[in-house]
Amino acid sequence: MTREETLDDSLGLAGRFQEQFPLVAMLLITDRPTELALPALRAGVRDLVEPDISVDAMRWTLRHAIEKAGASGASSDDPQSVGRVITVASPKGGVGKTTLATNLAVGLAQQSPTGTVLVDLDIQFGDVSAALDLDPTYTIGDAVHGSTLRDATGLKTLLTKHSTGLHVLCGVKSPVEADEITAEDVSTIIGLLKAEFRYVVIDTAPGLVPHTLSALDHTTDLVLVASLDVPSVRGLRKELELLEELELPPATRHVAVNMVGRGGGLSVADVEATIGRPVDFVIPRSPKIIASTNRGRPLLQEPGRDKLRRDLTQIVDRFSPITARKPGLDWSGRHRGAAS
Ligand SMILES: Nc1ncnc2c1ncn2[C@@H]1O[C@H](COP(=O)(O)OP(=O)(O)OP(=O)(O)O)[C@@H](O)[C@H]1O
Ligand SMILES: [Mg+2]
Repeated sequence: MTREETLDDSLGLAGRFQEQFPLVAMLLITDRPTELALPALRAGVRDLVEPDISVDAMRWTLRHAIEKAGASGASSDDPQSVGRVITVASPKGGVGKTTLATNLAVGLAQQSPTGTVLVDLDIQFGDVSAALDLDPTYTIGDAVHGSTLRDATGLKTLLTKHSTGLHVLCGVKSPVEADEITAEDVSTIIGLLKAEFRYVVIDTAPGLVPHTLSALDHTTDLVLVASLDVPSVRGLRKELELLEELELPPATRHVAVNMVGRGGGLSVADVEATIGRPVDFVIPRSPKIIASTNRGRPLLQEPGRDKLRRDLTQIVDRFSPITARKPGLDWSGRHRGAAS
């Protein structure tokens, strides 16, 4: 039987199930999700997942499919029913964490508008609001006052809605307010949000400060960012070593090298040799990014098909369940040629 015949059979079976057992939720496991999305959804498939989906993403997808099918009373109190928590961190400041976190969040929100929240965990000097041109009524400072932290419903009233549908827990307006926010508060906040949202994207302050460590307790994916200079790459190596020593819950690690350009003497291969692992994402240095920061509109918010957007989209695709295999990515989604 050919691959296409097997597929026809699977979709035919899905169609018959849909007719006879409408409360059964069906998922299609495929390495061609983009191509098959339409025929599969028409046949009654609830969602498409790739064979290498993470356990957490699979849990979320199953729960979501069951809820949509109305077949179960799955509750968000169920600790197993959690979304993907993606933390963007770096040992050094100014390397592009906020740029990558906001682009990633906006990109994920375009696929899951009501299911994506971005948290500004750069507690003192967070600038997510500026990067997204938001003027929040409430901030993370309000979350730790009164009874808001008791349940997700209260916390959700403090989120600011971005034009893409993305929800944002914005950073405090003055660093003084930041003193009241403890690492335990951060843990409670992330715990509540991950039960409600499919994607929780977290922007952090430089270094492994206590608030970031709290976030790492919940993190399913850690994106470590460095720029192409010796202090940044050395810091990256030290942070990776420290993460090995800390007894944190396992999170998939992804390394992004940002602001890559001519000059400076270091190459992506040098970074890989220094850290002893491949670089996953390579983002070039570009004045377009500076302009987008200044406008308060992440590049992925605006339409366009240039290489820079494709590079940023690779990060979004890594976390999205419906992932298009793009040229330049190998089977694991890794930047092809990054190790050379
Ligand atoms: N690839 C890039 N090319 C050119 N400029 C960039 C690039 N990435 C980020 N920048 C610019 O670098 C500056 C710092 O970026 P960003 O605020 O994202 O860094 P950060 O790591 O969040 O900094 P901090 O540690 O202070 O929070 C911004 O002005 C941003 O526009
Ligand atoms: Mg920042």
